Order: sequence, then C-alpha cells, then structure tokens
Amino acid sequence: MTEAERRATLEAIAQEVAVCTRCRLHQTRTRAVPGEGHPETEVVLVGEGPGFNEDRQGRPFVGQAGAKLEALLTSIGWRRQEVFITNVVKCRPPENRDPEPDEIAACAPFLTRQLEALDPALVVTLGRFSMARFSPGARIGQVHGTYRPADAASGAPEALAYAMYHPAAALHQGSLNEALFRDMQGVPEALVAARARRRSAATPTDQAATEAEAPAVAEVSAAVEPPAIAEAAAIDPPPAIVPSPEEAPPAEHASPPAPEAETRPAAQLPLF
Ligand code: URA
Repeated sequence: MTEAERRATLEAIAQEVAVCTRCRLHQTRTRAVPGEGHPETEVVLVGEGPGFNEDRQGRPFVGQAGAKLEALLTSIGWRRQEVFITNVVKCRPPENRDPEPDEIAACAPFLTRQLEALDPALVVTLGRFSMARFSPGARIGQVHGTYRPADAASGAPEALAYAMYHPAAALHQGSLNEALFRDMQGVPEALVAARARRRSAATPTDQAATEAEAPAVAEVSAAVEPPAIAEAAAIDPPPAIVPSPEEAPPAEHASPPAPEAETRPAAQLPLF
C-alpha cells in the first residue's frame, strides 16, 4: 500500500467511525474518536476507549491519561505524532465505565481495518482490554513489560504486542507509575525485535528488496517468546514515519533532511 492509499484508507475508516451507530455508545457520545497519528509508523498504541476530554475533542489521549502517555513517550525520546494512537472502542463509555463485550465486538472491525492499513511492527497495548485483543488469555500483572506475537485475528498478524498498564492507572495508583515508566523503557527493544522478526519472516525476494532499500538493521539474537525482551545491538533507523495528519507537513515533506530534533522525520524513532 502506498502512503497515499494508507492515508485514504485511514481517513475513510475515520469517516465511518464518526457516524457509526453499531452499538449503544453512539447514543451518549459527543464525538467519536477514530484515532490519529503517523500513517507510515511502525508502532501503534491501543488504549481502551475515549474519556471525557477525548469525547469532547474527538482525539485520543488528550486528557490526563494523555499527558501521562506523552510523558511516557518523551521518556524514550519519542513523540505522539511519530506513532499511531487509537482505542479498542471509539466512543466514550458513559461515566468512563469499562466497555462491554458487545461494544468491543461491534467496534472491533474498525481497529482491525486500521491495523491492516498501518501494518505495524509493534502494537503497544495500554491496559487489559487492549491486551486481551492482542494476547488473549494473558494476565496483565504477569505480562506487562513483555512482548509476544500479536494474535493473528487482531489485524496485525505480523506484529509483536507489547503489554503495558493503562496510563490512567498510574493516576490512581502511584505504584503503577514506576512500573509504567520501567515498562516503557522496554518499548524500543521490542521494536528492534519486531523488525528482526518481520525481516526473518520476509521471503528471500522481499528481504533482498528490503535490504536494497534500507541500511542493515543489527541482528537481534534473542527469541521473541515471552517473557524475554530481546537484547539488541545498535541499529540504524528504519525508513520513515510520517507526521500525524493534523500536525504533519505535506507528504512531500515527509522525509526531509532533519537538521534539528524538532523536524526529525518521524521514522527516526530513537532506539537507545
Ligand atoms: N483512555 C483511553 O484508553 N483512551 C483514550 O483515548 C483516553 C483515555
């Protein structure tokens, strides 16, 4: 899929989400929240569902949990416009209650299609509802801070899923704040492992083409089975991630020379 096709697909999904009436959550929403981010990103973050502020603004993670999420990304030198951020359900559950199974099921095709379009290497799950989709049967207390192959039915069959507590949990339980920041430190390594896994899954022809296009990525030795986190050597940055639709420069500026951090192409996610 070209970048233009990917953008068009994501936009089409967002327009469907905006007028969706597939479950009862549409009755109480102010705005649906499809998600946003870099259409060429390697990393998708999936939360639970919009809260009060997200419902008002139609954007994911813009309230207190969003501030926490941005602090977490900043702690590894990443920015929200370099990744794609969305939720399991796209409309706010009243009073921020947990989403019901039938609401999750009704909304699932949107997330599946977003993931199929984005084809991420790594999905970072934020909280147990998101984790359940990519790692069914896992327990968050046991698997947070680790990765495993994403469930094939998730829409991201070639991705690794990295489990984290929900950022809002740290707002209520101080002890989880430390765990969240510690777990975030493992995300770049998980991305390295995810890239290595995709490279080894590529056909010889695909792999040759990839190598011809991009400078070599360092070999990652560790297995991707949980709970191990891969030990990875230094790595060249991959081809680029483009900025979020709202914040992005036009497509022709997607891969400019990056004279300073502010204008760094999104794909240059610092890894270590
Ligand atoms: N919590 C979520 O899970 N998603 C949001 O978008 C905001 C808060």
